[in-house]
Amino acid sequence: MNKFVGYRCSLCGEEYSPADTTYTCPKDGGNLDVVLDYDSIKSKYKPEDILSRNDPSLWRFLPLLPVSEPEGESTPLHAAGGTPIFNLSRLAEKLGLQYLWLKDESRNPTASFKDRASAIVVARAQEIGAEVVVTASTGNAGAALAGMSAAVGQKAIIFAPKSAPQAKVAQLLVFGAKVILVDGTYDEAFDLTVKAADEFGWYCRNTGYNPFTAEGKKTAAFEIWEWWESTHQKWHEEVGMDVDHAPLTVFVSVGDGNIISGIYKGFRDLYQLGWLPRIPRIIGVQAEGSAAISNAFHGETETITPVSAKTIADSISVDLPRDGVRAVRAAKETGGTYVNVSDKEILKAIAELGKLGVFAEPAGAAAYAGLVKAASSGLIGSEDPILVLNTGSGLKDVRAAMRAVQSAPIIEPTLEAVKQLL
Ligand SMILES: Cc1ncc(COP(=O)(O)O)c(C=O)c1O
Ligand SMILES: [Zn+2]
Repeated sequence: MNKFVGYRCSLCGEEYSPADTTYTCPKDGGNLDVVLDYDSIKSKYKPEDILSRNDPSLWRFLPLLPVSEPEGESTPLHAAGGTPIFNLSRLAEKLGLQYLWLKDESRNPTASFKDRASAIVVARAQEIGAEVVVTASTGNAGAALAGMSAAVGQKAIIFAPKSAPQAKVAQLLVFGAKVILVDGTYDEAFDLTVKAADEFGWYCRNTGYNPFTAEGKKTAAFEIWEWWESTHQKWHEEVGMDVDHAPLTVFVSVGDGNIISGIYKGFRDLYQLGWLPRIPRIIGVQAEGSAAISNAFHGETETITPVSAKTIADSISVDLPRDGVRAVRAAKETGGTYVNVSDKEILKAIAELGKLGVFAEPAGAAAYAGLVKAASSGLIGSEDPILVLNTGSGLKDVRAAMRAVQSAPIIEPTLEAVKQLL
């Protein structure tokens, strides 16, 4: 069954067949939504058919994806997704909330959310017989593309700003990708990658520019749906909680805006299939120094004005977000909003999550910092069930992690020195 029937432009609404275009709308450059044949999916599957598939990875949702699963078993590409959800009851109490969970995307094979997008793009690359896949990246998208490509023997080239944290660059190199460090910003690397892909005939994975990235990211929404259905069902049975009065709120950090757009697309797919009665409220969190999408949201416009981005959260440091319009809508159309957080608040969030056994990189912790702000400003109620995403591992940026904590004392190797210290 061919579920992938074409694309629809998010700006002008024009529809394209898969053969018409590869990246953005040829007319206006708008991001393209992948269109699936929902009627045919619905006629063939019920939610139970998918949820009972014996595969913990994102590939369990294959019937809702526009690609086929690459061949070969038990590679890292086949292990993307399926991340755990933890109950943060201790932090919930501190924030005056009753229900708080965290979905830990750092458990993906290359330790960030980006594996979801890269797994699907690599699958697409294999389908169309692309010899080389290329991407611009602040680090994580590249590491994910390099890792997923290595898993199935696909050639990958990564353009990253030379300022990318070392651990991310190390991942790119160890995964055997061709790594090109650009003496410039992520935005400059992005534009250069598009030009190079055009010139050399490479398949370009750039976030948002390639419509399949959001298709990978939407799988997180599928997992949230699956978890939420069983969680609120349990509430209903155990404490008689009225599900309709307790919609889920999801907090996600935002740079280019593709994760938030992808998650919204996932919920919309489920809604269109009639499998999700109510789309969760989505709250985007941006760094104060990189808030182009938040600015547009609060300016009540869809026009994204670039900023000169500066934040410790390198993964969400973006001058001109490449999926801004859809990202504004993801919050607007779900009753959500955008919250900005300072670098100081991000560092504090790293420390707080760490005390619960969750190690987040700055961009990952930003979502939790946004929740802290939203809780203290009354944006959310104490009974609202909340899910926060940690999108990347703290091991990705150890330098930032060390700024979030006090350094350890160094002592002489004597018991006397220990006594003095204590
Ligand atoms: C850890 C992490 N969090 C959040 C984001 C933001 O995702 P997007 O740029 O799609 O908004 C990224 C993107 O690189 C990331 O790596
Ligand atoms: Zn268009």
